[in-house]
This record gives sequence, C-alpha cells and structure tokens, in this order.
Amino acid sequence: MIEVALFGAGRIGKIHAGNVAAQPGVKLKYVVDVSAPAAAELAQRYAARPVDAEAALKDSAVAAVVIASSTDTHADLITRAAAAGKAIFCEKPVDLALERARACVEAVAKARVLCMIGFQRRFDPTFSALKQRLDAGEIGNPEMLIITSRDPGPPPVGYIKVSGGIFKDMLIHDFDVFRWVLEDEAHSIFATGSCLVDPAIGEAGDVDSTAVSIRTRGGRLCQINTSRRASYGYDQRFEVLGSKGLLQARNHTPTQVVAQSAAGVCEDKPEHFFLERYRSAYASEMSHFFDALTERKPVRTSLEDGVKALELAEAATRSWREGRAVTL
Ligand SMILES: NC(=O)c1ccc[n+]([C@@H]2O[C@H](COP(=O)([O-])OP(=O)(O)OC[C@H]3O[C@@H](n4cnc5c(N)ncnc54)[C@H](O)[C@@H]3O)[C@@H](O)[C@H]2O)c1
Repeated sequence: MIEVALFGAGRIGKIHAGNVAAQPGVKLKYVVDVSAPAAAELAQRYAARPVDAEAALKDSAVAAVVIASSTDTHADLITRAAAAGKAIFCEKPVDLALERARACVEAVAKARVLCMIGFQRRFDPTFSALKQRLDAGEIGNPEMLIITSRDPGPPPVGYIKVSGGIFKDMLIHDFDVFRWVLEDEAHSIFATGSCLVDPAIGEAGDVDSTAVSIRTRGGRLCQINTSRRASYGYDQRFEVLGSKGLLQARNHTPTQVVAQSAAGVCEDKPEHFFLERYRSAYASEMSHFFDALTERKPVRTSLEDGVKALELAEAATRSWREGRAVTL
C-alpha cells in the first residue's frame, strides 16, 4: 500500500484527494492545510487524518506527496518532500520565480525522487488522441499551432494579485501544450495583452486578454489567444496545420444533443470550467503518477517541463511589459 500526504484542501486539492483515494493500492493518509476546517473536512471524507506539514513529511511510511496548495508554497514543499525521500506530484506552476523553480530541479535530482507537474491537458482524451494521430504522421510535418484558451469568467482580483500574472497563472498550460504538441522549443516570443474584461485586473498590474506569437527553433509558428472571459463557457481548443492536413481538438459539451428548428440550430455550450472539462484528465494524470512510481518509469510531465513552461511565461511577461519580441 502506497501511503500519501496531500497538501492543500482547496478547489484542486479536493479533486486530487478523490483521485488519490480511487487508486488501487494507494491510501490517502494525511491532509495538510493551513485552514484547519478545510483539512479536517476533506480528511474526514476519505478516512484520512488532518496533520501539519512537519508530521506528514516526518512519517517514513508516506511514500508520496501531492502538492495542491497555493502556488507560493510549492517550491518549499517540493524541496522538503524531496529531502524526506518522497515521490512528488505538484500542481503548476512550480513557482513564480525561475531561480526557485530551478533550485527545485537540483533538490529533486539530488534526492533522486520522482517528481511530476500537474499539466493535465496532456492527459485530456481529445488532446492526447490528436497528439497520437499527429505522431502517427496523419498530417505530415506540423507547421503551425493555434491555441484558444478562454476562461468563462475572471477570478476575484484578490487571486489575480497573488497569481504571478496571466502568463504564469493561465498561459503556463498553453506553453506546455505548445512544447508537447510541436516537440520543439521557442526561439522567440512576442506577447501583447489588454484589459478588456475587468479594469480592476489592470489596476492590479495585470491583463485579462492576450495574443502571443512564438517562432520555434525549427521555424514552426504558434499563436496563443486567451481571455479571462468567454460568455459561452470554457473555450479550450487547438488546431495543428501540417504539410498534409489539419487536426483540430474541439470543445467538450455536457451532452451531444442538437436541437434544430425554424429558429436555428442549438447545441450545448462547452463544459463550464476546468473542474468539468478536465475531470477525466485529472484522474488519468494521477493514475499515471502512481503507475510511474510503482513501475519506476519516467513521467509524461516532468519537473523540467514545469521549468521550461515557466521560462516561456517569464519571457512572455517581459515581452508584454517591454513591447518587443524576446529571444530565448
Ligand atoms: N492544473 C490545473 O488545472 C489547476 C487548476 C486550479 C489550480 N491549480 C493550481 O493548484 C494550486 C491551488 O489552487 P486552488 O485553485 O485549489 O486554490 P485554493 O485557494 O482553492 O486552495 C489552496 C489551498 O491551499 C491552502 N494552503 C495555503 N498555504 C498552505 C500551506 N502552507 N500548506 C498547506 N495548505 C496551504 C489554502 O488554505 C487553500 O485551502 C495553485 O498552485 C494553482 O495554480 C491548478
């Protein structure tokens, strides 16, 4: 039995708790959260115990940790968990500062522990089916990637203030998708942004709408467009233009029912937000983590992938601030 400590009993922590508990041969032993009621409530649901971080990391029977606490806690918990010899699953982003994220790579390498970052989009059934068909050569050489990534509505400004900005908080996923799909690295990046949704986001020093262009070392092109608001739901699509055709990953809808009448054609809006859209991806990534741990295999979304995506987010932030293309 693999015993696990979960850090963070918030939105994503609750999802991961359920997925950890559902793994065969895995037991959720501890829930750690600075909010005692949140930890107690989630622990009780899975017959786990609420404890503090030190107690969880000190227990030598705990083989793995899942870090789903606020972003500013990730680097410290990764370092401490690695030193304690635990396998680590950590939510994105690794940290908001590149130096701290790179220090995590060193700590994990030194401790020789498994570390996976929660880039769940690589586990989404539609996105991974597209990637398999791309890899099988169905559209020849991939030349251009267009990613559309729009949230249904903006988070509270309090969240924006500690998020590290839209490029590190939101586009970090898109930067990972870009690297994963094209299997190429960015040579240059040009990011523009505007505050079109909520002026309070601008007052907090951030933007809520972005358009990013990337040219890869291999000469491929990528465009990423994002918004903190899409009135019709969570818009998560991408398309790859190849030398022999096009592959498109469309939105998921709650049902496939289409109503057609004299008034027009009507179908469901996309699934509401990430908890719905990526429900199965969160379950698959957790299974992948425990399979990798038991079978001693590498993970699909490594700590290094987390650092690479952060490098792109940092370059995009600089490009937007300075109004010029940045070479990596
Ligand atoms: N992969 C994804 O799709 C995805 C989606 C949402 C959030 N996230 C990431 O997950 C993390 C959490 O996001 P969320 O939306 O669940 O936030 P949240 O605010 O709902 O939950 C965070 C929890 O962490 C707790 N916490 C804060 N400091 C702590 C500490 N030192 N030790 C233990 N617990 C602590 C808070 O009390 C809170 O309960 C963030 O890093 C975020 O970027 C990833």
